[in-house]
Amino acid sequence: MSFLRIQNLYKTFGGQVAAVNRINLDIAEGEFFTMLGSSGCGKTTTLRMVGGLEKPDSGAIFLGDQCLVAPEKNLFIKPEKRNMGMVFQSYALWPHMTVFENVAYPLKLRGIKGAEMSKKVEDVLALVGLAGLGERPAPALSGGQQQRVALARALVFSPKVLLLDEPLSNLDAQLREEMRRELKSLQQRVNITVIFVTHDQIEALSLSDRIAIMKFGVLEQVGTPEDVYFRPATPFVRDFLGKTFLLSGKVASANDQTISVDIQGSSSASLNLPRGKALTSATKSLTQGQSVTVAIRPEQVNLTSGRQDGRANMVEATLQTVQFLGDRYEYTVTLGTETRVLASPEQQSAKSGDRVYLELKPEGMTLWPSEK
Ligand SMILES: Nc1ncnc2c1ncn2[C@@H]1O[C@H](COP(=O)(O)OP(=O)(O)OP(=O)(O)O)[C@@H](O)[C@H]1O
Ligand SMILES: [Mg+2]
Repeated sequence: MSFLRIQNLYKTFGGQVAAVNRINLDIAEGEFFTMLGSSGCGKTTTLRMVGGLEKPDSGAIFLGDQCLVAPEKNLFIKPEKRNMGMVFQSYALWPHMTVFENVAYPLKLRGIKGAEMSKKVEDVLALVGLAGLGERPAPALSGGQQQRVALARALVFSPKVLLLDEPLSNLDAQLREEMRRELKSLQQRVNITVIFVTHDQIEALSLSDRIAIMKFGVLEQVGTPEDVYFRPATPFVRDFLGKTFLLSGKVASANDQTISVDIQGSSSASLNLPRGKALTSATKSLTQGQSVTVAIRPEQVNLTSGRQDGRANMVEATLQTVQFLGDRYEYTVTLGTETRVLASPEQQSAKSGDRVYLELKPEGMTLWPSEK
């Protein structure tokens, strides 16, 4: 059953283009749900409407069986009555207060005082790994510690939902990774429902039970990290998440098991795709001679210097440059007029200008109608 339900949510600013354009979402209790998308696609606006900091033009939001907002019915529950904790990018601790006072503030707002308040604050500080730091002035903390205070402040009143808007983006790369792991472990211990907003794909893939990929106020795809990464529903999702290696071709033949595609710009290369895995929701029809794009993740392409006879799914290319990146080599290759980048942990003997062969793993290929 859905715990948090978003129905036809719609929001414009000053009657301009829709920042959030009639989205629908069902989030389960205890789920770590992420909204991912490029800048300006409407993530923060959606989150603020869930938290009650922004009012939608139309649509509705429900928490359990309670309606939180429905402009058509003139219904709006105030943020402090929604039982949701929030942490934003600029986590905005009050600088004139101690850690304890910062975390106790939401309890005071809710009329919780004395020993009960102190116990709740101490417990939540221990939960985020800040036990004993209560008396510190908030500014006298490291970035990671301040982030933990912001989390403690959002969790102290045992909210039903935690809303996180790019909470890690102010931290340096190493701390960010550390906090990412801690956040996941914390969420599992507290078992709270989280809506997490980010434009960092690694954060989204690693933290989430499900991800919604957003573009111009619309949800492009909602699914598990594996769904959106391996089975993208649209070219936007495919190219937004991770790197994609694209080859243009034409359908040579298709039967129940296999689809054969002749690749352009490569001498006599023909790829055989297992139909079950290759067809995407975007490939509706297949006719012989139809222009298509074959997509594959670069890690599923194997580059070799010599042609290996008898191996299927090999494409010829010309090596342009090789760059050593520490844990891997990056190979730039051209196929006809098109340039592509591949990475491999192995060093090849081939040099710039050499003919190389790309072996594409059949199970990694997906088929798309040609754009344009
Ligand atoms: N208060 C506002 N007044 C006018 N336009 C706004 C306001 N807030 C957001 N917008 C517009 O609404 C759209 C969505 O903005 P939003 O902040 O939700 O994007 P976002 O996905 O969170 O982006 P980012 O990743 O940059 O934080 C943008 O075009 C933005 O300019
Ligand atoms: Mg934002």
